[in-house]
Amino acid sequence: MLTQSQNELLTRVGPGTPMGDMLREYWVPACRSAKLEADGAPERVRLFGENFVAFRATDGRVGFMQEACPHRCASLALARNEGNGLRCIFHGWKFSVEGKCVDAPTEPIKTRAEFAARVPVRSHPTHEGGGMVWVYLGKQATPPRFPDYEFTQLPDDHVQPTRGIIRTNWLQGLEALLDSAHVGFLHSSNLTSAAGRALFKAESDYMLNDGAPQFEFVEQPYGFREGALRDEGGDLAYARIREVSLPFFSFIPAAPGGAGIVCCSIPIDDVTTAQWYIAYNPHGPMERDIMKAFGNTSGDPDFFNSDMGGPENMWHQDRAAMKAGHWTGITGRGNAYEDFVVQESMGPIVDRSQEYLGTCDRVIYRARHLLLDAVRRFQETGDISFAGPDVDYARIRAISFAYPKGTDWRTIDAFDPPAIAAE
Ligand code: FES
Ligand SMILES: [Fe+2]
Repeated sequence: MLTQSQNELLTRVGPGTPMGDMLREYWVPACRSAKLEADGAPERVRLFGENFVAFRATDGRVGFMQEACPHRCASLALARNEGNGLRCIFHGWKFSVEGKCVDAPTEPIKTRAEFAARVPVRSHPTHEGGGMVWVYLGKQATPPRFPDYEFTQLPDDHVQPTRGIIRTNWLQGLEALLDSAHVGFLHSSNLTSAAGRALFKAESDYMLNDGAPQFEFVEQPYGFREGALRDEGGDLAYARIREVSLPFFSFIPAAPGGAGIVCCSIPIDDVTTAQWYIAYNPHGPMERDIMKAFGNTSGDPDFFNSDMGGPENMWHQDRAAMKAGHWTGITGRGNAYEDFVVQESMGPIVDRSQEYLGTCDRVIYRARHLLLDAVRRFQETGDISFAGPDVDYARIRAISFAYPKGTDWRTIDAFDPPAIAAE
């Protein structure tokens, strides 16, 4: 349970809010790289309650700037993209990838160059990795080190980034990603379905065998590792080790073929959130469309849950299917839909002063307090937590494995797992 003021502090992300200012100091995914074609349509991107456009210039570089034209605020999503810059269709002013006004053809020729050089343009540094364009929206003149997670270093065909959009605050999204305790309930029908079993193989049995895993944590400079430990009977135990790289990322283990999945919850504004599911295989190309494998059929990788419905139709929940044995009645779709539905059902910003937490919520409690400490530290000193030279982003990987009871799961190296590790 939090106080209302703690809840406000954690959830408000608009310009000038403490959390908004802190979160802007981290690199965040903005859009899929494949969305941007050289000299193609600019992409509207809304982040932290502000509107931007991303575009790929003639030479392939990515520009990222305010959506409103610095002249009289026409949308630069409408702009011509040509000659290494965006040219506003209203009066023809042109802006470069570097965020400079390089032409203002409505100005007298004599003073034009001088005038253009003085036009204030808000643009931001970008970086491409993991099939996504990332942006730094913070205030530092030199952006912080890019978080070179394993999936950001792989060739494009090894990674599948897919985005869902939910009508809730970012923290609701993050908390659902962190909450392991719901898996054996909310997703129980998916885990036992033919599709779910094909996806998770033995993992679903392990998870269903023990619905009350014991959680252990290891603090890390980037957040924490969480071991969900299950008793499988006899001498066998099962560990599901997740990595939480705050403030946005949760690495979850063991998708098919040795792939992993990274999820993150990126604020679009206070009440809308981009939830990215980034599937990747460090060893080779992704063999299948992971979102299809999860049962998501909208075909839109930028808004895969566009067919999810909402409170007005109870998210298409099928009561007859529930009577017939389906746990949620959210049928024919994957786990992410079930997550999104419960997140949206809490309302746009859940009032955390009204909760009553149990033992299973330790991870939620932990994450909230790490974030509260981080935002207070940022307010007092301007320093960023969960980052810095001692964070080895490339070595963050989730894993799950069965092991003999008595072994300490902390000693297992995710990059060199024991032979008994579950695939
Ligand atoms: S509004 Fe863009 S050039 Fe005038
Ligand atoms: Fe879930």
